[in-house]
Amino acid sequence: MGAENMNRNETMSKKVRNLLLAMLVQVPAVVLADPTGQALAFTCAGCHGTDGSSVGPSSPSIAAMDPEVFIDAMQAYKRDERNSTIMNRIAKGYRDEQIKGMAWYFAKQKMAPAPQAFDPKLAEAGAKLHEKYCEKCHEKGGRPGDAGTLAGQWMPYLNFTMEDFMSGHRDYPRKMKRKVDAAVEAGGDEALRALLHYYASKQ
Ligand code: HEC
Ligand code: HEC
Repeated sequence: MGAENMNRNETMSKKVRNLLLAMLVQVPAVVLADPTGQALAFTCAGCHGTDGSSVGPSSPSIAAMDPEVFIDAMQAYKRDERNSTIMNRIAKGYRDEQIKGMAWYFAKQKMAPAPQAFDPKLAEAGAKLHEKYCEKCHEKGGRPGDAGTLAGQWMPYLNFTMEDFMSGHRDYPRKMKRKVDAAVEAGGDEALRALLHYYASKQ
């Protein structure tokens, strides 16, 4: 059992309970004042870290995220079109222009790569798979860009995300499925783990 197999609901539930309580207090102020993206972003810090570099393995870092990818993600959560433990509820609390404001705020923040353990051998195998099957869209080893953030992202979060894609709980972006299937065919059972350890090695 590695960190990547951590139970999603167990790790989230306590945190979610506390944060939802905190948010109940904060949301009315948000609605009244219509503040800037930075002020709105304070409500996200409990899970996504101050300025968007998450310190908890189930919540992704959203610092330096491409603003369009950010907005698409929030809209998909809002419409229940993307599998989620918590974000579908949170996203419904924000208007489109507030989401835009936060997107630009987070896009300007520098992402601190997640400090996490990885297996160098697996990471090496993952680097080869990434280069061949993922780099075309996830450029510079998966650094934040117009296909989201993989490099330095938390491994458990990426693992849940890949499970969502592969089990059909999240729609694949165009042409990604073919490449994931090909990587799994080439790398066998270890392919996914290798890719995740490669992204974790980007620190
Ligand atoms: C209670 C914890 C929590 C809070 C508070 C929270 N998030 Fe999230 N966020 C998550 C988790 C967990 C995920 C992964 C999807 C899921 O399980 O819901 C996520 C995913 C995301 C993603 C997708 C990232 C990606 O790489 O695709 C975005 C964007 C996001 N959150 C933005 C926000 C914003 C903006 C706020 C504040 C308004 C916020 N979140 C508040 C826990 C939280
Ligand atoms: C043809 C382009 C393309 C290829 C090839 C591709 N991806 Fe993607 N991928 C995307 C796009 C675009 C997104 C973001 C869109 C979205 O959120 O739906 C994405 C999102 C992701 C995400 C979710 C990130 C997040 O936080 O939500 C993961 C994980 C991922 N890709 C892994 C991979 C891996 C691993 C490979 C190689 C085996 C790969 N992708 C190959 C285009 C691609």
